Amino acid sequence: MPDLIQLLPESVANQIAAGEVIQRPSSAVKELLENAIDAGANVIQLIIKDAGKTLIQVVDNGCGMSPMDARLCFERHATSKIHQANDLFAIRTLGFRGEALASIAAISQVELRTRRHEDEIGTQVLIEGSELINQQPIQCSAGSSFLVKNLFYNVPARRAFLKSEAVEMRHIIEEFERVALVFPEIQFSLIHNGRTIFQLGKSSPRQRIIQIMGNHLNSVIVPVEEQTDFVKIHGFTSKPEYFKKVRGEQYLFTNGRFVKIPYLQHSIESAYEGLIPQGSFPSYFIHLEIDPSKIDVNIHPSKTEIKFLNENLIYAVLKAAVRKSIGQFSLSGIINFDEEWALGDGELKPGEAIKPPKIQFNPHYNPFQPQNFQSSPEKRNLQNWQKLYEFPENVPKKKDENLIETTHLRPIEESENGEKIRESGFLQVHQKYLITVVKSGMMLIDIEKAYQRIFYEDFLQSFEKEGIPSQQEIFPLNIHLGQAESVLVNQMKPTLALMGFNIDNLSNNTFVIQGIPNGMDATEAKESLETIIEHLLKEEDTEKADIRFISAKTMATTLARHHLRPLKEEEMRELTDKLFSTTMPSISPIGETILKIITLETIEELLK
Ligand SMILES: Nc1ncnc2c1ncn2[C@@H]1O[C@H](COP(=O)(O)OP(=O)(O)OP(=O)(O)O)[C@@H](O)[C@H]1O
Ligand SMILES: [Mg+2]
Repeated sequence: MPDLIQLLPESVANQIAAGEVIQRPSSAVKELLENAIDAGANVIQLIIKDAGKTLIQVVDNGCGMSPMDARLCFERHATSKIHQANDLFAIRTLGFRGEALASIAAISQVELRTRRHEDEIGTQVLIEGSELINQQPIQCSAGSSFLVKNLFYNVPARRAFLKSEAVEMRHIIEEFERVALVFPEIQFSLIHNGRTIFQLGKSSPRQRIIQIMGNHLNSVIVPVEEQTDFVKIHGFTSKPEYFKKVRGEQYLFTNGRFVKIPYLQHSIESAYEGLIPQGSFPSYFIHLEIDPSKIDVNIHPSKTEIKFLNENLIYAVLKAAVRKSIGQFSLSGIINFDEEWALGDGELKPGEAIKPPKIQFNPHYNPFQPQNFQSSPEKRNLQNWQKLYEFPENVPKKKDENLIETTHLRPIEESENGEKIRESGFLQVHQKYLITVVKSGMMLIDIEKAYQRIFYEDFLQSFEKEGIPSQQEIFPLNIHLGQAESVLVNQMKPTLALMGFNIDNLSNNTFVIQGIPNGMDATEAKESLETIIEHLLKEEDTEKADIRFISAKTMATTLARHHLRPLKEEEMRELTDKLFSTTMPSISPIGETILKIITLETIEELLK
């Protein structure tokens, strides 16, 4: 049998390796920006065309390269940043693998112009699919300009996998922001298709956050500072009065690098335990400076994963630092929040958690179409629900006066003419749960989740008809969004209008909400819209993401949260009827359990 193994041609090997480092235009952007920073630049320009599919250019005023280095830098494992294995544990630069440029050059056409400050004349290198096409001396400014054209031109499969312009541009903006947030002393600009998206002057760390994320953070972020023998922590975190429904504005950096370390993210979030409602998230921009010998960055080519030597210790210090800063800078804010933050009956016992804000509700509130809710025309699953009421003959008929008094439960009674009245009573527990008697025992319903299911299906139905009617706001609301969010909202305007949100772009990142979905109040609408935007930002492909489902879910959960109140028996019955006429009465639109039946056996077992 002949030998089967062959060495791959270098061009193929390069393409395979490139796939690890450069997955999409934003990966190339990240690598080029990091190189510019490592080169000591203090002015960095990023120019993009067609979301990076046709052009990515990074121009810096850093150290530049000699003609020899300008050619060598495209070789695999060519780096000026480390020289020996030991250097891996003393990394102070963002790059060190000597792979990025080789990878970019393997899958695109690159033009590099570079000149060292001390040289009179610069050099131009043209390279295409790893092959040197030309090198010649040229006049150019000191620093480097990398111009990357037609990324993946020779890897059609990869190119076909690229997402829409809006999605790819969002990724680019994300990478740009992650780098720009770390280096406020560097001037950055980002131009897309001739339009300036960012023009960031030299600034302080706080100003840089605001330049990028928007003014709304100015009054809600507080500084975090801590220094121990092995870690220095600095940055900003949000006051507990500000929180998001999904993890959005969360940035953790280690030695100048944006990192994703769920363990440490958890440490920060846990500092907010008891201070913000469950299921919501703080915003933070926190930097850890650690001796490079105590971390390993070389786990993944994208370098966003890092291993620490003293992970547990860092967890504890980080949590304490965040907790301290929230306490120091915002406790007075929380106490001023009095009604909303109901700190018990005025006294907070040691160790007792602060309760989340009370939910305001309007007892006369009409969810979308009140008549819909009450009449419940489609009795699709009503029979199912009624089946649950059919009592077995052996249910004790004797009524316990006490029980009836306190619970209003009337499991089964006989009317004067001896007919069985199959009517069950309802009991509301702490405004949150509803209990009713069913054939096999009792049914426990989570009221908020029941509303979620009902509203969710109402919304979907409205979408299918002619969209959700919009009501004009007398005092239009302004919202300020980040750059990535603004791109998304502009793209989504027509769909948002179908959902009842009429939005206009006032200036760059400021939008005005002229109309909100009928039946919602301004606060609910604003909260829903912000959450919808956050959810959509997380979606890989906004065009394919079914925005109807995402919005219906968000709007339904927001409305339901604001809907808890004491219910009359009749209302509890209507709620249950309506729930059982939905397509899925037992599961909420976010996949949680709405109801459980507790059987008589279980109750007996419990009371043994
Ligand atoms: N903008 C720049 N200005 C000056 N020198 C640069 C610039 N970009 C790259 N270089 C030089 O080219 C070399 C190769 O860059 P490349 O990005 O491929 O590798 P790296 O940055 O060393 O490591 P990594 O692959 O981890 O990014 C760098 O080590 C640096 O010497
Ligand atoms: Mg690099």
